Amino acid sequence: MPYHRATLSTFLIDERRRTPSFDPELAGLIKDVEVACKYIASAVSRGRLVEEKASTKVNIQGEEQKPLDVIANEMVLQTCDSTEQLLGVVSEEMENPYPIQRGRNGRYLLVYDPLDGSSNLDLNVTVGSIFSVLRAPEGAQELKPEHFLQPGISQVAAGFTLYGPSVMLVLTLGRGVHGFTLDREVGTFILTHPDMRIPEETREFAINASNERFWEAPVRHYVEECKQGKSGPRGVDFNMRWIASMVAEVYRILIRGGLFMYPRDTKDPSKGGRLRLLYEANPMSLIVEQAGGASWTGRERILEVKPTALHQRIPVILGSRSEVERLVSYHHAYDQGEELSFKSPLFANRSIFHS
Ligand code: AHG
Ligand code: MN
Ligand code: MN
Repeated sequence: MPYHRATLSTFLIDERRRTPSFDPELAGLIKDVEVACKYIASAVSRGRLVEEKASTKVNIQGEEQKPLDVIANEMVLQTCDSTEQLLGVVSEEMENPYPIQRGRNGRYLLVYDPLDGSSNLDLNVTVGSIFSVLRAPEGAQELKPEHFLQPGISQVAAGFTLYGPSVMLVLTLGRGVHGFTLDREVGTFILTHPDMRIPEETREFAINASNERFWEAPVRHYVEECKQGKSGPRGVDFNMRWIASMVAEVYRILIRGGLFMYPRDTKDPSKGGRLRLLYEANPMSLIVEQAGGASWTGRERILEVKPTALHQRIPVILGSRSEVERLVSYHHAYDQGEELSFKSPLFANRSIFHS
């Protein structure tokens, strides 16, 4: 029996047929990102065997780099250094934008987190890369930081990879979300999860509970309701997950639904959140929305936030739409001075999205 599934390359060719406005230059750029991700997948799977070769420092985030953070960042830079479509790149691991020498007329910008969840690397659990593609301003030849300060709604493509039991690449070009699995023997990403949709029916939530004392009232209230399970206002038992690797959490949400939160807290008010807007929150928000879910700070839709700095942080609440709506409505009520009470009819079924 003939066995044929689309590869990432044939998917990109078909995308051009489906969407005549799809720019072949963007397809070329995605192919280069794919190559970088394959190199990173290979390095991550070799773990300690490659780690000793990199020298690390404290990055712009004030976080101690892992050797593989440095190696993964280098792999993206080396792969994309000859990408003519790219004017420049911004990475979690570099303070300033990096201009692409051969991309002086490039019409795109790449923003990426080379290795997400890298604090887990020594545990050998799933990590990944996150990327976002923006348009460079028309006629721009000299790269400037301001070029990257575009709201997430302007992204032309976004995706992430998983370096786990299998290597996966999840991609959106703004028309749905598609998952590809790396066939390692052939070295090709194969379309295994077309048109991913976030399930609405959900019984799972994810939050780092060690920060509970720093949370705001709406988040406390939401989590408390979930924890009360069958005997509480939700009337069902919930399960809790925390992998501490956003790529793995978002993938779980794509498969099983649920809510992922790294909310605003009072731990370090100067930071405005834990996750970074440009290379974590924005690409993941586009993917989640394209898969039918929602992604808010609690008070604003993340994709509409106008960035003010390259490494800016932001609160993130994303996942199944009805759960995000519920928690956003709690923020809304709280900000209006309403008391958060389990008995209040306010929390029955009100949606601020459609009011
Ligand atoms: P990175 O490894 O790129 O710095 O990002 C880690 C992020 C994210 O993946 C995860 O959701 C979060 O940090 C985990 O934070 P805690 O260590 O506070 O749980
Ligand atoms: Mn990260
Ligand atoms: Mn990282």
